[in-house]
Amino acid sequence: MDEVRQNAMKIIDEIGENRLDWFEKLYSNAAGNQYWIPWSDGAPHRFLVEWNLQIKSRGSALVVGCGLGEDAAYLCREGWEVTAFDISKSAVEWAKKNHPNEDIKWMVADLLNLPNDWKNSFDLVVEVHILQAIPEPIRIIAAPKLAPLVKKKGHLVCIGRLSEKEEYIDGPPWPLSRSFIDSIGNSLQPVDFVEGNLSSDEPTTIRFRSVWRK
Ligand SMILES: C[S@@+](CC[C@H](N)C(=O)[O-])C[C@H]1O[C@@H](n2cnc3c(N)ncnc32)[C@H](O)[C@@H]1O
Repeated sequence: MDEVRQNAMKIIDEIGENRLDWFEKLYSNAAGNQYWIPWSDGAPHRFLVEWNLQIKSRGSALVVGCGLGEDAAYLCREGWEVTAFDISKSAVEWAKKNHPNEDIKWMVADLLNLPNDWKNSFDLVVEVHILQAIPEPIRIIAAPKLAPLVKKKGHLVCIGRLSEKEEYIDGPPWPLSRSFIDSIGNSLQPVDFVEGNLSSDEPTTIRFRSVWRK
């Protein structure tokens, strides 16, 4: 285990796996040094970039669990009107600092408890590596919160790791089973499901992008 993961696991052990406040501790302890953020490589996710390049329409976009804001900044530069939120105040402040030239509405918010008036409000709702980073007892409450945010004819895009064998993995991250992924958008129309990997991945890692339309 490398020292970055070791550091994250130590924070999770101290706080307890079934709570979400370890994210804040990780970001605040990192004190502006991106090296300590295991999921942040300073670039938007390739699967999001590939999806965006296929889509001609633009509009309002909500980036869920934006972390250091790479996906939000990319979508903003691509012409989306972006709202980006994270449960961690330190992450949001850091993202804002990293992307001073993008006109993004940054917010501290919890996916489990979002403003009511966000329902049916976004042409695009994106989650990259959020559900797979949340332990199962919270994940099953969080996942159904996504689809209601999508406006009529809008898209929901979820990106993460896929668990093909549905076996238990000692996360985070916890790769998601296909049946769980399908349940995220069960009130929407499925558009596509892509599997692949990134050049930096271990050979055993399988990633997915699942897209639905309202
Ligand atoms: C694995 S990181 C991914 C961050 C970013 N999407 C990326 O790909 O770089 C998971 C992020 O989700 C945020 N998060 C976890 N639970 C959340 C919740 N309930 N509401 C909002 N954000 C949450 C964490 O603070 C963290 O920034």
